[in-house]
Amino acid sequence: MGEGICDYTKHIIDLRRHMWMAGVEVELRRLIWQIAVVGKYISAKIHESNRKLAGLKNVYGEDQMALDRASDEILKNQLQFSGFVRQYASEELEDIIDIGTGQEKYIVTADPLDGSSLVDSNLSIGTIIGIHKNSVLDCGRNTMVAALYITYGPLITMIYSAGKGAHEFVLNREGEYVLSEENIKLKEKGSIFSPGGLRRDWTDKHLKFIDQMESEGYKLRYSGGFVPDINQILIKKGGLFTYPALKKSPQGKLRLLFELQPMAFIMEQAGGMAIDGNQDILSVKVENINQLSPIYIGSPYEVQMARRMLDQC
Ligand code: AHG
Ligand code: MN
Ligand code: MN
Repeated sequence: MGEGICDYTKHIIDLRRHMWMAGVEVELRRLIWQIAVVGKYISAKIHESNRKLAGLKNVYGEDQMALDRASDEILKNQLQFSGFVRQYASEELEDIIDIGTGQEKYIVTADPLDGSSLVDSNLSIGTIIGIHKNSVLDCGRNTMVAALYITYGPLITMIYSAGKGAHEFVLNREGEYVLSEENIKLKEKGSIFSPGGLRRDWTDKHLKFIDQMESEGYKLRYSGGFVPDINQILIKKGGLFTYPALKKSPQGKLRLLFELQPMAFIMEQAGGMAIDGNQDILSVKVENINQLSPIYIGSPYEVQMARRMLDQC
């Protein structure tokens, strides 16, 4: 007899079951699951807003900025009634806002939609989430208890870590997040690199570092979307993403709290590293929610090489 539906579902590990088996505490796993569900709504919004589906130029009168804000609204509304979140900090809001009764366990940070300028060209975009127990300001490494990101591409995938490895799930046609790769582990050294910023704006040290990577034969892989570019390094098990200090903006472009720290958390859980050139990204103090930082993130060989080369006088 062939494999029936019961035999098939036996082998499926969905997100909730995985978190339960991994011993993630009950409130945290419910929260992660609720955020993963929001990914479906954001994806629906991306489809609805995309002017290509409308057949005309933007019949809804929405521009790409509106999609960022709509994603933020969807996320905030869901978290408001989750029962687990007392504060919400988002790239789309001026300040941290109180959304619970004050008794809830967690604070959530979000880049609800990263890379929205890529929507019209149909490249992958994403959502980035950090989950903290204590205040997100003035604190370093100890505040984050979990992080996740969702990629909206040919498939919708979700990678989460609650401090016990980094795991990938794929949204199947039945609407369930199904485990596709458990305990992602990077190799010591990869073969791809994604360097952000313009060459003419790079510092001399960064330029030398990139020259070194080119001479070692690293292949260029840069989509312009932070989420898919990081995801590629994780799934291909190594390589480096950098958005460096630029001559005109010494703190680079990307946001420490909303973008860099959640990705650093996940990357470290996969055996990788993330530094600002010198210090670990997770140890950098967040003094304001919109703080920027340079970043070098990926497998250990490349990140250590960056640290060495940027340190040289
Ligand atoms: P935005 O949210 O404005 O679309 O920016 C996306 C970010 C990030 O996703 C990506 O890594 C970076 O900007 C790309 O910047 P450049 O266009 O300067 O390469
Ligand atoms: Mn962003
Ligand atoms: Mn954004």
